[in-house]
Amino acid sequence: MSATPVTVTVTGAAGQIGYALLFRIASGQLLGPDTPVKLNLLEIPQAVKAAEGTAMELDDCAFPLLRGIDIFDDANAAFSGTNVALLVGARPRSKGMERGDLLEANGGIFGPQGKAINAGAADDVRVLVVGNPANTNALIAQASAPDVPADRFTAMTRLDHNRALAQLSKKLGVGLDEISKLTIWGNHSATQYPDLFHAEVGGKIAAEQVEREWLENDFIPTVAKRGAAIIEARGASSAASAANAAVDHVYDWVNGTPAGDWTSAAIPSDGSYGVPEGIISSFPVTSENGEWKIVQGLEIDEFSRGRIDASVAELVEERDTVATLGLI
Ligand code: NAD
Ligand code: LMR
Repeated sequence: MSATPVTVTVTGAAGQIGYALLFRIASGQLLGPDTPVKLNLLEIPQAVKAAEGTAMELDDCAFPLLRGIDIFDDANAAFSGTNVALLVGARPRSKGMERGDLLEANGGIFGPQGKAINAGAADDVRVLVVGNPANTNALIAQASAPDVPADRFTAMTRLDHNRALAQLSKKLGVGLDEISKLTIWGNHSATQYPDLFHAEVGGKIAAEQVEREWLENDFIPTVAKRGAAIIEARGASSAASAANAAVDHVYDWVNGTPAGDWTSAAIPSDGSYGVPEGIISSFPVTSENGEWKIVQGLEIDEFSRGRIDASVAELVEERDTVATLGLI
């Protein structure tokens, strides 16, 4: 077991995802069973007391890998020396708020947090943005951290990926281990495109094993609108499944993806598949030696092209809005 703990900073630590996430990090599921962790929790001043309560519970779990917890209401202190930054806390959309207002309000969070990461994070820092609108919040943080390699800023579409796996597994009555090469393209929003044309079930293309009607009118909208359906059912947005997806994303980023398969993550585009360079969009990705790589060479048919383009157009619009607001 390595003696030096890895510092993991979690923002929004007193929120519902924070509560589901912190115990899994401290138990070793984020980085593996041989890696001790130190937790830095960042909250707004009003929620620090609640974060302290969660820290008390973390202590009470007596996790062997947990080497300390510090709680902050100052981003510079919270990101000092951090190796993994999980940006969960965000400004939710309130009644009457337009998308531009939401992006601006989040700019006030993710801009300063990006600056703090730039100023003090460890050289190997990896950033996962969970707080919505996740892709564009990641872009804002990245733009505020010019000294950190751009590809260290990512946004979470792993929950969408896992949702798509679950829907397909139920439809075909197959185990999750029989499904591979599924992809979420684009934005973590209702425009996202869950792609079954490259996914395989038992080695054969998934789209050929389901009715076209189900694929277009059931599968895609169910996955894309699952976040709203959970809010409707639970009265609060998904928390444990979001925390689980964050764990999956970081675990694979650090430890690598299994041979012969890929996953989905929103990473800065290098122009692949016609996605404008710099946009933080979801792609089929593998992780090798601690770096995400976009899977190359997939043939994109007209149907998929239209869906990918629509989601990417939304990301371009969000980028243009935050550029106009001076946030990037
Ligand atoms: P929540 O409201 O329960 O918790 C958010 C926490 O963030 C609160 O404790 C709040 O005090 C804190 N916070 C707000 N501003 C902060 C700041 N500047 N610095 C530090 N902390 C701050 O929300 P939640 O259910 O935990 O969800 C968090 C975010 O994750 C939301 O934006 C939600 O929409 C998003 N989400 C994303 C996905 C995804 O797949 N990408 C899935 C589910 C939820
Ligand atoms: C989700 O996909 O569950 C969330 O992003 C929904 C939300 O708006 O918080």
